[in-house]
Parts: sequence; C-alpha cells; structure tokens
Amino acid sequence: MSRKILVTNALPYANGDIHLGHLVGYIQGDIWVRYQRMRGNTVHYVCADDTHGTPVMLRAEKEGITPEALIGRVHGEHLRDFTDFGVAFDNYHSTHSPENRAYAEDVYARLQAAKLIDTRAIEQFYDPVKEMFLPDRFIKGECPKCGAADQYGDNCEVCGAAYAPTELKNPYSAVSGAKPVLKTSEHYFFRLSDPRAVAFLRDWTRGTNAAGTRRLQAEAANKMKEWLGDDSTSDGENTLSDWDISRDAPYFGFEIPGAPGKYFYVWLDAPIGYLASFRNLADKRGDIVVDDFVDAAGAEAAGTEMVHFIGKDILYFHALFWPAMLQFAGLRTPSQLCVNGFLTVDGAKMSKSRGTFITARSYTAQNLNPEWLRYYFATKSNGTMEDVDLNLDDMIAKVNSDLVGKYVNIASRCAGFIAKRFDGKLGASDSQATAAFKAAFESGVIAQAYEERDYGRALREIMHLADLANQYVNDHKPWELAKQEDKEVQLHAVCSTALTLFRDLTLYLKPVLPSLAEKVEAFLAITPLAWKGEWQVLPTGHAISVYAHLMTRVERKQIDALLDANRESLAPAMTEAKAASSQQRHAEKQQHAAQTAETASPHISIDDFAKVDLRIAKIVSAEHVEGADKLIRLQLDIGEDKPRQVFAGIKSAYDPGALVGRFTVMVANLAPRKMKFGMSEGMVLAASDPDGTSSGLYILSPDAGATAGMRVK
Ligand code: 2FM
Ligand code: ZN
Repeated sequence: MSRKILVTNALPYANGDIHLGHLVGYIQGDIWVRYQRMRGNTVHYVCADDTHGTPVMLRAEKEGITPEALIGRVHGEHLRDFTDFGVAFDNYHSTHSPENRAYAEDVYARLQAAKLIDTRAIEQFYDPVKEMFLPDRFIKGECPKCGAADQYGDNCEVCGAAYAPTELKNPYSAVSGAKPVLKTSEHYFFRLSDPRAVAFLRDWTRGTNAAGTRRLQAEAANKMKEWLGDDSTSDGENTLSDWDISRDAPYFGFEIPGAPGKYFYVWLDAPIGYLASFRNLADKRGDIVVDDFVDAAGAEAAGTEMVHFIGKDILYFHALFWPAMLQFAGLRTPSQLCVNGFLTVDGAKMSKSRGTFITARSYTAQNLNPEWLRYYFATKSNGTMEDVDLNLDDMIAKVNSDLVGKYVNIASRCAGFIAKRFDGKLGASDSQATAAFKAAFESGVIAQAYEERDYGRALREIMHLADLANQYVNDHKPWELAKQEDKEVQLHAVCSTALTLFRDLTLYLKPVLPSLAEKVEAFLAITPLAWKGEWQVLPTGHAISVYAHLMTRVERKQIDALLDANRESLAPAMTEAKAASSQQRHAEKQQHAAQTAETASPHISIDDFAKVDLRIAKIVSAEHVEGADKLIRLQLDIGEDKPRQVFAGIKSAYDPGALVGRFTVMVANLAPRKMKFGMSEGMVLAASDPDGTSSGLYILSPDAGATAGMRVK
C-alpha cells in the first residue's frame, strides 16, 4: 500500500538570508521526499516564509519599506535559493496569508472552546522612546554573572549564563538605546499546565505513529522527558508552564479576534503556516482532499502521515506546543519529527570573520555545484540530532573521490566504446558481475537507510557498490579488449554490464543528486528511475545517447574564493558602523525615491522639527577606532561640562587629524546608543548623495562666528 505523506521543513524567518546552516535540514528533507516518491509514495512537500514578529517589523522600518514589501522580496530570494539547491517544495507560501489567518483564528477559537486560553497581566521591559515592549533579544546590557558588556536579554555569549532580561545590569534597548522601563499589560496564554495537556504530551512524545515508527528520535524523546517529567515520579503534578501566545501592538502579525491591540505571537501562527501552505497548494491543485491530511478524524480514516523536518533549536515548539495545539483543536497531530543538529564548519561555529557563515546565494554566485554540498551533507547525515560538520577539505576529497573518481568514472570509461564500436546499442550483460547488484537491490539495505534518514549509511553502501563496479571494469580492462580484434563480444558485454551497474548507482544516488541523475537518464535514454518493481539489466539492443561530461572536480581555490566572498560581503554587518550595508543602501535609495516623489513627500510640523536639538559642536579630538573600518571617534564640545563622545561613520572621507578644531553641527538629543566601541552620545550631520557612498561625505560647518553650544534652528 502506498503511503500518503505531508512533509514540511521549518519555515525560515523572512528577515534573513538562507545560509548553509539552514540547508542541512532542507536538504535532508528534500532527500527523504525524493526517496519516498521514487518508492511510489504520494508526498506533498510544503514550506513557507515565517513572516511575523518584531524583527521583521523593525527590519522593514530600518529599510524604509513596509513589512509586506520586505517579506515579498525575501520570499523571492528564499525560493530562488531553495530551487538552486534542488530543494523542490510543491508549494512555498507565506504565514502572512489569508489561509494562515483563517487557520490561526480557527485553532485559537477551538482552544478557547476547550477552555485552554487564559489571560493574565504580566510585567515586561518597555522601550519608552520607541513605545513598544521589547523581546528579550532586543534588550542588551551587562551579564549579571560575568559582567560582559552588550549581552542579550536571555543569555550571555561570553559565559553562557541564562537569565531573565530583568537581571541584566544597566539594560538598554537595542532598538533606541533608551533605558527600558517595566510595564504591565494583559497577555493571552495557552494553558499547557492543564492536566489534559500534560497527560496528552507525555503519551504523544513517547509513542509511535500508525506505521510503528517512533514519533521522536531517541535523543529528542529523552529531552522531552526532562521537560515533561515522568508520571511515575511527579504523579499528577503540572510540569509545564502556560505559553504566552500574545504580543502587544506595535507588532507585525495577526490581531487576535476580540482582543484589539493584541497580536498572535509569531510562534503561534508559524507552524500553522504548514497547514496554510498545504491548503494553498490544495486550492491550486484541485485534487487534494485537505481534511484527509489535516482533520483528526479525516487523517485517521485516510491513513495519511504528517512529517516535520526541523532543527534541534526548535524542538521545544514542535514537540510540545504544536502537537498540543493540534490535539485540542481537533486537528491531526504530527506522525514524526525529524530533528537535525546544527552545522559547524571545520569543527567550529559558523563565523562571519572566518568567512564560514556562508550564504546559499554566495555559493551559487561562485558557480559551485549545489550537488557537491547535497552529497557531502548526505554523507554526514545519520538520522540523529548530532551536529553536522562541514569539513571543507573533506568535502573536496569526498566529492572528488566518490563522485568524480568512482561513480562518474564508470560511465566515462565505457560509454565511448558503446557509441563508437556498437552503434550506441547495448549488448548482453554478465550475470555474474551483476549478481551483487541484484542482491543489493533485493535486500533493501540502502532503501532502509534512506527511510531512516541515515543517508551516510546509504552512501557507504552505495560507494561499496561503486568500488565493486570499478573493480569489475579494472579487472576486464575494456581499453585493452578494444585493441584486440577477437574480443568484440567481451568488450560489448563488459561495457554494457558496467552501464547497468552505473544505472543502479544512479538510482541510489538520485534522491541526493537529482539533477545529475536526470543527466544520466538522458544519457542512458531511460525513463525516470523509480525504486520499485523487479531488478532488471538494461536490455540488449537498448540504444543509449551520447555521453556528455557529468561532473567536474572541486578545487580548493574555489572554496577559498567562497570563504573570501563571505568574509567581504559580511564585513560591514560586523561593525556597528552606521555606514550602509548594501541592503541598507538599497532601502535608503527607495526611501529617498519615495521622499522626493511629489505624492509621497510627508510634511512635518514646525513642532516636529523643534524636537530635534541641533547644536554647533567644536571637534576637540578625533581618532581612528580600532576594529571599525568606517568609524571615527569624536569628542565634541557643545558648551557642556565635558565633551560628548560620538562615533561618526566618516572614516572614508576624513583624516581625523584634519577634523580637530573644526566646528560642525550635531544632534544633541538623540538617545545615547551603546556601540561595540563605547557609548555614542549624539550624531554629526553630514551630506551625501542618496546611496550614501559614491560621491563622498561632507560634514556640515557653520559660518565663521558660530560658537560651541549654539542652537541651530
Ligand atoms: O526558528 C526558525 O527559523 C523559525 N522561523 C521556524 C519556524 S518553523 C514552523 F514552526 F513554522
Ligand atoms: Zn556572562
């Protein structure tokens, strides 16, 4: 009986680029989907952009565009990157969609009906300048444990301590620099502490699905035990806290019905986005019955499965909140979570300064073959939550030796003889030589490894077969047979046999290397390879096409260029400099265009202008800032007791020495901003063309006679 499976990958946030760390899980998911389809199973494979939340809202604001415009652009970029890496979703949708709103409202209403929604007042940090509540990640300060400066509100990157934002010393808002204040507001909660939820989750996280497979990998199930406790030890006691599912305006998301100014927290509607993308697909296709996959009773009757591929950082959401939401909303619960570990590069965390924070875009822009990476990631995937290390030299060695040296080599050594000597037609095969391959197919070992997502094991088996095929060619030396007139029959048989073996290897590699497999199907003139039915040799008399080169070797210098590209392209983002990254420049251009267009030029009142405290400042000192490639540290006298320190992104245009003693204009009432290099207590005004870079920067100077501290009006 063929299976019917809805497969999803975690929805990437719509405020960042896809990088190789993301691709680990997407490639693992895509391989599994392709494998299932080759076995004749029906798979609907969906994903979407995760668009809601504060970071998207603030990023759009920074770029001077609407959140809708931002998520529209990023959607195109993400889809392009996935397509480039062969990650072939049937649908790539958005959580900011009518389908998602409808599902989110429906799930919420059902949870309310089940008496699982509560409200209560909570106190949180609030940015009085920006007038918004601050998510933990937008509060910074000194670590309460080790004192390190500029640490986030939830944990310290220096000593690893976890804490509440209220424990930070000298907290400041990463949005405006202002000192946050505590403020109370009403929040909505999903009552996970309800005994029904705890009992359901204890059972769900330990169990198997209808096919008898564990819903969670062993390590994930153990984590759950830590979080959920054990019913034998904590009999009847609640072990889960209720989950805060609302956020206050301003927030980019869906407003909660009946709760003006309250929005669904991004993590409430993100997984619901799986269902929304699926419904959108079904609406486009017309032949999918949504309830067979989404409704609890419908899914049970139809025997469908729902499988989520996720990273280990979001296990908590997918193994607790998500199944509980579905269960108590009367929807089907996940059949399986496939959780992958993080990516390290050369044994270390991805790093912008080393250039190992590699974007998908930079990889393809360097003309590197995405299937090299798919192959390498597959060799390192074993179906567990262990981290995957991208060892760059090992990747070069594996791709060159396994794919080019072993696999492609079989076809390249035999195809020419078939074309030149046998009119492109195959002869009889050597059944002794094919026996091991027939047995491997029938044993199902490789299939089993794919099913368990132990792609590394599958590829080891496949490479073992590739070794056997190469051994066969080496033993029979077609290049020598070709020189002997009476060896035509053997030559024909050896080359035909080798091509059947090559066909088998291609079948097994196809989930990992779909585009290479397609080229091979064209070369062998066969219908798309499917992993079912009886094993057969390529038939005698079958005509193949001309062999065209299948894959080139990876060179170390290509990888070095990739690292360089990432070091360079990400360098501006590493400094706190205000000077524009390319995205900011792009946004600023758009903003400028909007502001100069007659219709879009917003006026401000004189009162608005009066809010800006502009002062004449005397530059008393100016110096380079170590580690900052755009900044100059200025000390500015504006008639106060001591000079103000301001970091100005003008290094490209001014030599510090030439600035000392000059008068300029500064904004004196800008909220102080904590930067990596110290506090910046204002801003110097400078003129530049709209894109901020091409024709220089010019700081303003008053006419002679103006003195430090004068107000500019
Ligand atoms: O962690 C993340 O990147 C989230 N955007 C994943 C969401 S997965 C699902 F729940 F939508
Ligand atoms: Zn610390």
